[in-house]
Order: sequence, then structure tokens, then C-alpha cells
Amino acid sequence: MRMIDLIEKKREGGVLTKEEIQFFVDGYTDGSIPDYQASALLMAIFYKDMTDEEITNLTLAMANSGDVIDLSSIEGIKVDKHSTGGVGDTTTIVLAPLVAAVGVPVAKMSGRGLGHTGGTIDKLEAIPGFEVEIPNDKFINLVNKIQVAVTGQSGNLAPADKKLYALRDVTATVDSIPLIASSIMSKKIASGADAIVLDVTTGDGAFMKNLDDAKRLAQTMVRIGKLAGRNTMAVISDMSQPLGEAIGNTIEIEEAINTLKGNGPEDLTEMVYVLGSQMVVLAEKAETLEEARAMLVEALESGKALEKLKEMISSQGGNPDIVDHPEKMAQAKYTIELPALESGCVREIHAENIGIAAMILGAGRKTKEDSIDYSVGVKLHKKVGMTVEKGETLVTIYSNTDSIEDVKEMLYNNISIGEQVEEPALVRAIIT
Ligand code: URA
Ligand code: CA
Repeated sequence: MRMIDLIEKKREGGVLTKEEIQFFVDGYTDGSIPDYQASALLMAIFYKDMTDEEITNLTLAMANSGDVIDLSSIEGIKVDKHSTGGVGDTTTIVLAPLVAAVGVPVAKMSGRGLGHTGGTIDKLEAIPGFEVEIPNDKFINLVNKIQVAVTGQSGNLAPADKKLYALRDVTATVDSIPLIASSIMSKKIASGADAIVLDVTTGDGAFMKNLDDAKRLAQTMVRIGKLAGRNTMAVISDMSQPLGEAIGNTIEIEEAINTLKGNGPEDLTEMVYVLGSQMVVLAEKAETLEEARAMLVEALESGKALEKLKEMISSQGGNPDIVDHPEKMAQAKYTIELPALESGCVREIHAENIGIAAMILGAGRKTKEDSIDYSVGVKLHKKVGMTVEKGETLVTIYSNTDSIEDVKEMLYNNISIGEQVEEPALVRAIIT
């Protein structure tokens, strides 16, 4: 088999066979297929798409390119959740301890930031000492012992995805339905969860900018999950504006803590209950979503979920004191408040550019080798649909430099104020 023939076949809109897909995944993983040929195939896939069967074969080949974790020694139905990416998406850090607090084992494999989107693993590293690279056996022990562990994509989990993900990031082939679906589902299948709740984001801050594409991505992933024998469902959620108020690392950890204390932003809190209820039902700890939600509300309001977060932090080597003293995390040198330049209703907050503004401050990576400044970010005081008076604080910027004219301009240019609009609906569709 020759790689050039596969590229040509896909370029002409052909359908790759299972053997051809396996040849590509094996060869790219072991280095016998070079980046330039893989890039060409990715771009051909981007333009010519893939059939369901091709996507399923690609997913399974990627899932089997490395270790496949066996979680069967953990009692109960293990549920994972995965978002297709967003700006200020702090849900996992609230959701993992909350769902664990009602007795659902949460074996969560999370990622780092990609493009303008943030990653849970980067955020957790803002907690002093927190270890995100946990060996498989310790990961399993932790879930058995305290019901929750959050780890990064361990050394040999779906290595094909690891390489392809990095290549896509620099070849303009991230926002492709077959490539996102296979990337996410290969990791979920390899990481061993029995059931999967997908949060498929849509809107300006997501990779899927419109609802139809988001639905197609969700349907594709749900089908692949079921074909692989995992109970899978998807919530399509709004990412036209950032989720919650904080976009950064330290400040998102603080936001997660506040949410577990019952003082979180409304949209983040609601998103956590929506996704959490689905997880509890898939784990068969509740029969209905209403019952599941009531369990979660009780765990949050009683403080059990907050205790679980502390337990999770200390079990992974982090300092649990930050829960009561978030100021023990790295703090930015400058706190700069941006006043609203006019009175009116906040009409739009362009999530992608707000994410890029946070990245320019240092909260994300511009290149793969960049390191992250945990202390910086932006906090939105007004969300879409809220009214603001001229002079009132619109945004707080956390920065380690005071020359941030470009960031200020970017924030002003991407938040529009004017006539009254409705708050956008958070849940756009449910796909089962
Ligand atoms: N998250 C992933 O894991 N992969 C993608 O391709 C996009 C978001
Ligand atoms: Ca947030």
C-alpha cells in the first residue's frame, strides 16, 4: 500500500477502506508516514469528508494505537464527559467532584488548550502541586478510593490522536467533523469509560460555529460511541459567548470553587446541573433527570461536593487550602478594570476573540512550546442580555504587564452594547 494512493483517492472523494485507514494510522504513529503526507490526507478529509463507516474505522484504529485502559476493577458504571471545546469552560472542575459526591465513579481524562479554547488540564495545574500525569494503576486506585480522578492524556493513550491533534493545530484542519469526532471518541474509548456524556459546543467560541454542524458532529459521535458499546449521549450547548465569567486558569479554578460554594455564575451552574444529571442517569444512580438533579443540588448545597473537590486536590498532590484561600494561587500583578463606554444592553460577547485576548495575556499558548501564565485572564462582569450603565465595570483584566492597549482594544471591539436582547438559551439540543 502506498500513502500517495490514499491521498489521491480521498482527494477525488473516494471512500477509504478499513485496511487503508489502518495503514495510515499505524504508519503515522510509528513515523514511517511523514507529516507532509499526513497533512495532505487531513486536508483532503477536511474537504471531502468521510462516511460513518470511515469515521468509525478511523476512531477505532486511533483508539487501538496505544494503551486501552481497563476500568473494570472499578465498581459501578464509569461515566466520562467531554466537551468539544470552549472559552471559559470551567464545567469539568465543578462537575467531576459534584458527580462523584453522589456516588458516581468519575474517571476523567482531560485535555490541554487548543487554539483559542482552554483546557482543563492547564487549569488544574494552576493549583500548586496538582499532578495531572497519573499512571494508569494509580488513576484506577484513586477512582476506587475517592470516586474521582482527573488526568491528562497519559503517555501511550491514543498516541495516533496525540500526533494528529498537534498536526491539525498547525495545518488548519481542526474544525472538521470526522477529525474532531474521531479525535474525541478514540480517547474516550481508549480511556475505558462505560458511558459518555458529550458536551458539543456551538457558536462563535466553538469549533462548530453553527447549530447544524454541531448536530451532525454530535450525531456522529453518539453513533460511534454506541457502535463501540458505550452508552453515549450529547448535549449541544451555547458557546456564542464565554461560559461563566472567568477566562483564565487561576481565576477559573476560583470560579469553580465559588460555584461549588453556591455562588457561581448562573450559566456555569446550570450547565453543570444539565451535564451532571445526564451523567447520574447514565450511571444508573437515578431514574430520571429530575431525580438526578435533586441529588446534585443536595450535594452542592450541603457542601459535600466542595469537600470532594478538596479530597480530589489533595489526593493528586495539590494544596487543598486554596479552596478556602484562593489567593494562595499565583496572582497577577495588575488588576485593570474596563468601564463600559456607553449605557445599554450587552448584545454580543464574541467568545473566540475573548479567548484570544486571554491567550495574548498569557493564559493560553501561541505555539505548542509556549508556557502558560496561570495568574492572568479576563473576567466578564456583564453577560449577553444584561444591562450596563456607562462607567460601570464591564471587564476586569488580570495581567502581569501594564502595556495591554491591544488587549483592551480587542475586548472593547468584541463586546457590543446597544438595544435590549434576550439571554441566549444554554441548551440548544439533546442528541441520544
Ligand atoms: N477536542 C479534542 O479532543 N479533539 C478535537 O479534535 C477537538 C476538541
Ligand atoms: Ca468560566
